[in-house]
Amino acid sequence: MAQHKLFLLPGDGIGTEIMAEVEKLIAHLNNTGATDFATESGLVGGSAYDVHGAAISEEDMEKALASDAVIFGAVGGPKWDNVPYEARPEAGLLRLRKDLGLFANLRPAICYRALAQASSLKPELVEGLDILIVRELTGGVYFGEPKEITELGNGQKRAVDTQVYESYEIDRIARVAFDLAMTRGKKVHSADKKNVMKSGVLWDEVVRQAASDYPEIELQHILADNAAMQLVRTPKQFDVMVTDNLFGDILSDVAAMLTGSLGMLPSASLGAPDPQTGKRKAMYEPVHGSAPDIAGKAIANPIAMIASFAMALRYSFDMIELADKVEKAISDVLDDGLRTGDIMQTGCRQVTTSEMGDAIIAKLQ
Ligand code: NAI
Ligand code: MG
Repeated sequence: MAQHKLFLLPGDGIGTEIMAEVEKLIAHLNNTGATDFATESGLVGGSAYDVHGAAISEEDMEKALASDAVIFGAVGGPKWDNVPYEARPEAGLLRLRKDLGLFANLRPAICYRALAQASSLKPELVEGLDILIVRELTGGVYFGEPKEITELGNGQKRAVDTQVYESYEIDRIARVAFDLAMTRGKKVHSADKKNVMKSGVLWDEVVRQAASDYPEIELQHILADNAAMQLVRTPKQFDVMVTDNLFGDILSDVAAMLTGSLGMLPSASLGAPDPQTGKRKAMYEPVHGSAPDIAGKAIANPIAMIASFAMALRYSFDMIELADKVEKAISDVLDDGLRTGDIMQTGCRQVTTSEMGDAIIAKLQ
């Protein structure tokens, strides 16, 4: 078995606590011969600032670039509120995304059976829900130029953000969505606002063109505002949804919240395939932040972090069965009634971060 290199960046706050559970899981998988991961850890965010005076050191950036996958915890916290802008904790995350070229953000919204009651929607609307939102992450209105606020001289100001997409950026994200859909329900919704935006017109044109290489995929166009409505009306109609950076930011948060707590939500960010090896740079991280309000109390929910690691097994290492097994183990411990505080329900048993991690590993045995 080829040895795979994982670079672990726990970060700050609960980041270190939830990463400890992934490290236990990796040790278990290595010990049982299921995997052969070589792991190394680095510093990112405030914890890197305290040591290096930067949100990530050059040495750790190089290690991230040389790894097969980066597993990222969370960064930030009030302690670093006043550090220089370039060294703030989020700068480490942004640098990683940029230097690794992570243009595709995968945000699953999976509703575990045991948590269907906890959704803000009726349980029957969300039970069995399994949506994957594929968000373009490096283009669009968050990065387009000009981007400025100017004084108009009459006491008024003018703010400009620019939505820019080139066809290659749309084509590559569409292909990521189609490739993923081929391993799932083969249904893709492409969301844009082509009724009022030129970038939407191009988005739709390029997505349709790319789809012609995927005759088995059922492609449907949807306007982004309608997508938001449909997500809360009948979410199970969706399988894969591909959309731009801004709409994806919002729609992925909407979809995610159908399924319960922030502590349950994983994500993956993928780069372009290497022309030689075909392998993509990738980073896996929970959607939540460093939760300073509960850090150090051993009560953080490690499931988003562990589910992010399961996505690494699936998308970086093609270990589909093992990824399924880890996800099933999560579902099983929830069925057994184990809960961290954030997802606690009456009749369930509250456990610590580490007890939850141990219980998930025990289900794999
Ligand atoms: P947050 O996601 O850290 O926390 C929001 C709320 O959810 C808190 O009440 C927290 O206790 C709870 N929560 C989050 N994850 C949890 C888990 N695994 N288990 C149990 N409860 C959990 O967002 P917030 O409070 O807005 O930001 C805190 C810090 O995290 C800030 O410095 C922010 O900049 C940073 N942040 C970092 C992110 C990242 O590293 N990707 C993403 C979002 C925020
Ligand atoms: Mg968001």
